[in-house]
Amino acid sequence: MAVLVTGGTGFIGSHTCVELLERGYDVVIIDNLSNSSADVVDRIEKIAGRRPVFYEGDMLDKELLNSIFDRHEIDSVIHFAGLKAVGESVRIPVSYYRTNIGSTLNLIDAMKAHGCTRIVFSSSATVYDASDVSPLKEDALLGTSSPYGRTKLFIEQILRDECVADPSFTAILLRYFNPIGAHPSGLIGENPNGIPNNLLPYIVNVALGILPQLNVYGSDYPTPDGTGVRDYIHVCDLARGHIHALEYAATIKGADAINLGTGNGTSVLEIVHAFEKENSITIPYVLTDRRPGDNATTYADPGKANELLGWHAQYDIHDMVRDSWHFAQVFLKNSR
Ligand code: NAD
Ligand code: UD1
Repeated sequence: MAVLVTGGTGFIGSHTCVELLERGYDVVIIDNLSNSSADVVDRIEKIAGRRPVFYEGDMLDKELLNSIFDRHEIDSVIHFAGLKAVGESVRIPVSYYRTNIGSTLNLIDAMKAHGCTRIVFSSSATVYDASDVSPLKEDALLGTSSPYGRTKLFIEQILRDECVADPSFTAILLRYFNPIGAHPSGLIGENPNGIPNNLLPYIVNVALGILPQLNVYGSDYPTPDGTGVRDYIHVCDLARGHIHALEYAATIKGADAINLGTGNGTSVLEIVHAFEKENSITIPYVLTDRRPGDNATTYADPGKANELLGWHAQYDIHDMVRDSWHFAQVFLKNSR
């Protein structure tokens, strides 16, 4: 039996494929390479010592999806594929709704047509209402301000509805906090196109000399040093959480939302200083205005994942900034 990993050549998907292969699962990937590249498949194989089956194609292509289920004995799906940039989703909302929701509808149809009833879905902490107070438990108030966030909320609801309609269906809705870091080998990691929006890729670009300085968005928040606090989680811890979620999915029916975070809040300046110390690099930065839409503090209560999945984050902030920088160096060296 195999696991279908949609978006498996992307940042979180590639790390999860490595974990799956290393634990003996057979892996089938579908990815349209809109935000990743085919050589990630070689890199996954190099780390894991086994090669996933790879289909280059779009989740909106129903025929392809069905043919993958026809060709492989797929008993569960981990669904990463989708568009994920909050700002872009405000500019092109219809593309976000079509891609993220349309892909999921096609996937559910193909799963049902082939008797596959288990799915682990990439949701996000962005589904929590910004006014709620951290640490956030899964029953905190939901509400989101961007089309991207709404696709996550809608998909969670669609999967819940499907679980009610079909009692044999199981959906684990994993709400990720802020994934950073990279595989310690330096072979896979995050490689966004253009100027990054997220903090760690931006810092890496400053460290590489591609961008002159970091803009720290807001220094007057009600936090210990005035800068925004988030729950950063190492992508390898996150990837491992998916294996635990698959195992848990095999023991329950219905839908369940579970946070994947460390439970620790770290400020922007703490991240900058950790990056500088761990990697012996100075990161020039300026304190600027708050970024619209940001809140002061967001971090998880990971108690449910600890208890139900038997999963705990193992890496700390120093591991995360070290591995992010290591990947940038190895990746750049190899792609020159
Ligand atoms: P990513 O962009 O690196 O990976 C997504 C992959 O999906 C890419 O390889 C892309 O090429 C592929 N893809 C996109 N649209 C597709 C389509 N129509 N058909 C086939 N493939 C398609 O993103 P990521 O950071 O690995 O995130 C994975 C998932 O986790 C996404 O659903 C994202 O919304 C969610 N998530 C990410 C974060 C984060 O900070 N990275 C946080 C919360 C949730
Ligand atoms: C953002 C998304 C969220 C998504 C998450 C992970 C928004 C509003 N939210 O969360 O939906 O799930 O990414 O992909 O976009 N910062 C700077 N300078 C920078 C970049 C960021 O100071 O150049 C600060 C931010 O103000 C924030 C922290 O760093 O306090 C983290 O920002 P970021 O990495 O963008 O993640 P989130 O905003 O938490």
